[in-house]
Amino acid sequence: MTDNTAIRMVAEKYFAPEYIESVSLFRGRAIVTLVNIPEDAQKSESLKQELLALDGVEKVSVVYTAIKDSEADKHWKIRGVKKIIAVASGKGGVGKSTTAVNIALALKRQGQKVALFDADIYGPSIPTMLGYEGIVPVSYDGQTFEPFDVMGIKSMSIGTLVSRDTPLIWRGPKACGALQQLLSDVNWGEIDIMVIDMPPGTGDIQITLSQQVRLNGAVIVSTPQDIALIDAVKGVNMFKAVNVPILGVVENMSYHLCEKCGHKEYVFGEHGAQDTAKKIEVDFLGEIPLNIKIRTHADEGKPIVIADPDSEFAKAYLDIADKIITKLK
Ligand SMILES: Nc1ncnc2c1ncn2[C@@H]1O[C@H](COP(=O)(O)OP(=O)(O)OP(=O)(O)O)[C@@H](O)[C@H]1O
Ligand SMILES: [Mg+2]
Repeated sequence: MTDNTAIRMVAEKYFAPEYIESVSLFRGRAIVTLVNIPEDAQKSESLKQELLALDGVEKVSVVYTAIKDSEADKHWKIRGVKKIIAVASGKGGVGKSTTAVNIALALKRQGQKVALFDADIYGPSIPTMLGYEGIVPVSYDGQTFEPFDVMGIKSMSIGTLVSRDTPLIWRGPKACGALQQLLSDVNWGEIDIMVIDMPPGTGDIQITLSQQVRLNGAVIVSTPQDIALIDAVKGVNMFKAVNVPILGVVENMSYHLCEKCGHKEYVFGEHGAQDTAKKIEVDFLGEIPLNIKIRTHADEGKPIVIADPDSEFAKAYLDIADKIITKLK
């Protein structure tokens, strides 16, 4: 079976070792990260073809990054933003956006200057959750956009570029280009922590985004079911493959709390994400119950951390925000 050494050997045929920052193989995808070198489409293509011929390599990503030389710096420039974290999940529909929006608002309540960027090209939902759906962002100079300033945080969504009913069938490079442009063209102001609501899954777009914005960490959201957990592990492995630190796992829809008697019912099984986190040696950040208020407040554009700030649901998000702040220090 092909391993990292084999991939590196091939990569070194095309690029000098000092330009190869890392190589990895992740679920059939070889990822070669090059540093400090201008993009060379021809060499990348030849490298791709040769890697694809290796046993067990089904896909190849060649990613260019830059650290030292500002001229060759291909990282996306996001002005004024100190730290960037992603809220991600392997599987769709596990409550990633709900978690991202409440964590962002909880971080703000803990005294941080916060931005929330919605990168979910498949189903942007932050505009609804923060109540700016259908509003066109303002530009004063015709070149840059003002972020939405809602409930004390700055926000922008890829959804402002496309209407909700248009199915977005952009392919990788086009979607990445749109995300890059939007991230760099927004006047974020001074931001301590930017939270990115990632598109679900572990494909090219997620990998490119993770590398190009130089993520400081990733929060993985999962429900307790096995099927979601398998995908959560995929998500963790993807970030590890591109050297993004995993801040931890959040278990969403952990249990249902009966409003009448206070009984906790573990609808999807007990402590699934917690156990999985332990098994794969990542931290567990907390559990969020399944509750109708969490859904309705988000749908109404006033997430629970704001709508019901003293509830135990809001407290759960605040605890997670505390842990994130500590980990980012
Ligand atoms: N803890 C919760 N309790 C009740 N409902 C929840 C909870 N978390 C999320 N939901 C609801 O579940 C649905 C899916 O959540 P959400 O949109 O946050 O998931 P997602 O992972 O971002 O989905 P997608 O992959 O489509 O982006 C929404 O209707 C949301 O209101
Ligand atoms: Mg979402």
